[in-house]
Order: sequence, then structure tokens, then C-alpha cells
Amino acid sequence: LAKHIRYEESVKSTQEIAQRLSYEHCPEGTLVIADEQTGGRGRLGRSWQSPKGSGIWMSLILRPDIPLQKSPQLTLLAAVSVAKAIYKTTGMQAEIKWPNDILLNGKKAVGILTELQAESDRIHAVIIGIGINVNVAETEFDPSLRDIATSLKIEGNEDVNRAKLVACIMEEMETLYHEYLQNGFGLIKLLWEGYAESIGKRIRVRTLHEQKEGIAKGITEEGVLLLEDDLGEIHHIYSADIEI
Ligand code: BTN
Repeated sequence: LAKHIRYEESVKSTQEIAQRLSYEHCPEGTLVIADEQTGGRGRLGRSWQSPKGSGIWMSLILRPDIPLQKSPQLTLLAAVSVAKAIYKTTGMQAEIKWPNDILLNGKKAVGILTELQAESDRIHAVIIGIGINVNVAETEFDPSLRDIATSLKIEGNEDVNRAKLVACIMEEMETLYHEYLQNGFGLIKLLWEGYAESIGKRIRVRTLHEQKEGIAKGITEEGVLLLEDDLGEIHHIYSADIEI
């Protein structure tokens, strides 16, 4: 992975560039990385603050030969790889919040956004966007985010080398990706559950239409969250925000 790298000083969103390169048939593993994004995109239509010089804002293009409905597994693969790489480069133990936020001391330091290019049932590309608040200072966060967002530097009290961290993430992803293509989701599921803060705990799930409470039991093969309510009934949660 990342044998082809497209570096940009300032872009609206690396996802956009990756989408375009992918339609132009760039090789699998192409990585788009920017020093700043002026219109970074988050999940659920939110925006993603990407200040200049202090974060990792990147999008990786994969072309796995897997059924469409398995593509969320790759988001979990990315989350595990980033959590591992953070541990290797800083010694900090990150937690994953379903589906794919990475937290340090309970605050969000990393977001992952996966977008799909598909024709009928075939995947053309999976674009994995990873945003990491590496050396972002507290004052750089929007005041509305200061209670819930953090950076590696804020938590570890020292600057983190962005290039080293990117290299480490790509190494982890490459190993896990090949493992995944050969042997399936089993190992990633296990690793993911090891990092997940919510498994076994009582959580509240908010979707657009409703709220549910119960115990997070684990994830399915597709990366769907299993929630057991107070009557013992199991619910499948496909997309939501969760609170512990
Ligand atoms: C989230 O909402 O948690 C996901 C945030 C994803 C942000 C990354 S930064 C690189 C890539 N380009 C974007 O515009 N978004 C993703």
C-alpha cells in the first residue's frame, strides 16, 4: 500500500481527489494526503476540521474483490491499524468507539470515513478517509468540540512525527489487508473487539428516528453492532451514534 502517493498542500477534501483518481483507474493502494483541508468531510454529513500542518488528513484507495455488503469490514480494519500504529509510535493505548472513532482518554482523536464506488453489485473502489488530530493544539479546535475532541499531542504532551505515523499505519494496514483477503474477517473482528471500549457495557444508541438502550454484545461478521435490550432481545445496529 501507498506505493503511489499524491501529496497536496491544501485541498478541499482528500476524499474528493481520491474519488477522481480512482475513476481514472489509479492503482490500488494509492494514497492521497494533504497538509490542510478546507472542506474536510465527516460521517453523517458532518464537516471535519483539518487545520494546516498539525494533522494527518489522508484517503487510501483499495480495490478488494469482495461482496459489496462486506465493505464495512474495511473500516474496522483501518480503525484497528490506526490504533495499533498509535500504540507503536507513541505508546498510548487508544480505544475504538463503534463504528470507527478512535478515542484517547475518552475523547476523539481520529475519525474514519469510508466511501464506496460500485457498479451494480461490484466494487470499483473503497476509499478510506482517515483524519488524525496529531499535533493539533487545544486552541485550534472549535470551542464546541473542545470537550469531546483531542489530539495525540494534547494527550501525550509531545509532538508526534506525522510521517513516521503515516508509514506505521500503512505497514499495519498492508499486513492486515493481506491477511483479510486470504483468511477473511476473523482476526480483524477479534482485534477490533479487543480495542472496543463499549463491548460488554451499557450504551445508548441514537439513530435518526429512535433511541435504544442496552448492553453492547459485540459485532457481527459485517461489522454490525449487536445490542441486547433489557428484555434480552438482540437488535442489529447498522448506523448510529452511541453513548456509554
Ligand atoms: C468522522 O466523521 O469521524 C470521519 C472523519 C474523516 C475525516 C477524514 S480526513 C481525510 C479524509 N478527507 C475527508 O474529507 N474526510 C476524511
